[in-house]
Amino acid sequence: MKHLIDIADLSVAEIDQLIATADDIIAAPEKYADKCRRKKLATLFFEPSTRTRLSFEAAMMELGGNVLGFSEANSSSAAKGESVADTIQTVCCYADIIAMRHPKEGAPYVAIQRASAPIINAGDGGHNHPTQTLTDLLTIHREMGRLENLTIGMCGDLKFGRTVHSLLIAMSRYTGIKFVLISPEELRIPEYLKEEVLLKKDVPYEETTDLESVMPELDILYMTRVQRERFFNEADYIRLKDSYILTPEKLSLAKPSMRVLHPLPRVNEISVAVDNDPRAAYFRQALNGKYIRMALILSLLGL
Ligand code: NCD
Repeated sequence: MKHLIDIADLSVAEIDQLIATADDIIAAPEKYADKCRRKKLATLFFEPSTRTRLSFEAAMMELGGNVLGFSEANSSSAAKGESVADTIQTVCCYADIIAMRHPKEGAPYVAIQRASAPIINAGDGGHNHPTQTLTDLLTIHREMGRLENLTIGMCGDLKFGRTVHSLLIAMSRYTGIKFVLISPEELRIPEYLKEEVLLKKDVPYEETTDLESVMPELDILYMTRVQRERFFNEADYIRLKDSYILTPEKLSLAKPSMRVLHPLPRVNEISVAVDNDPRAAYFRQALNGKYIRMALILSLLGL
C-alpha cells in the first residue's frame, strides 16, 4: 500500500501525473463526480487547520465520497491518552483513506506501522507538509506554465516552516532552479536541508536578510508566517514576527510576471493592499489545494 508522508515519497513523474490529473479535474469536474462513491476519508487533525482539512473534505465530497473525523485532539481519545498507533488502527476500521496532522515530527511514520489504509501526512510539526507542496507545485505550474528555470524566493520563518522544507525538497529535483532564502538570522533554513538537499544536489542558493534587494530577480516569492506555536519563548516570537511585511511599494520592485504564494494563514506578513495585485496568487493557491487533493485521493485509492 502507498502512503504519502514525505514529498520525496513521490517521484517527479508521479508528481507530474498528479498535476495533469488536477488540471483535468479543473477542466471537466463532472467526469470525477462519482469516482469515490461509498468511499470514506477520515481527517484526523491533532493540530488546528482551515485550508488543509476543509480542502481534503471538499475534495472527497466532490469525488462523491464521504468524510468523517475530528478537528482537535481534545475531541478525540488522544485526550484520554490513546497512542497515535491505536487511533490509526481503529480509524482504519471505519475509513478507506486517512489524512492526519500532528504536532510531533515523525508521527505519521508511527501511524503507518499499524495502518491498513493509505495515510496522508497533512503536516507533522515543523518537519513536512507534502500536500501543501503539491498545492504549491500545481499553482506554480498553472501560473508560470513550468516548474523548471525559476528563481524562487522563500521568505519568513524558514526554520520552523514545514511548507518551506517540503517545497525546497520538491523543487530541488527540477532543472534550472535557484533559491533565494530570505529570513532573519535566527530563522534560517535548517542545516540538514542545506547539506542533504541543496549541497548534495548542487542546487544554487543564496541566503539574505533583505527582501527588497532581491525582489527584482524573483520569479516566485513564497511568503510564510512566523510559526508562533513552535517557538520556545514568546519574547523571541514578538521580536521576529514583523521581520517581513510585503506591501504594494515593495511589490513594485518585482517583475510583472512574478507570483506571490503563501500557504496561508497569513498574520501580517502580506498587507491586504497586495491582494488585488494580479501577482498575488495565494487565494488561487488555496483553491488549487482542493483539486490536487482530489487527484491524490484518486491515486492513493487506485481509482
Ligand atoms: C501551513 C501549515 O499548516 O504548515 N498552512 C497550511 O497548511 N496551509 C502554514 C502555516 O500554518 O503557517
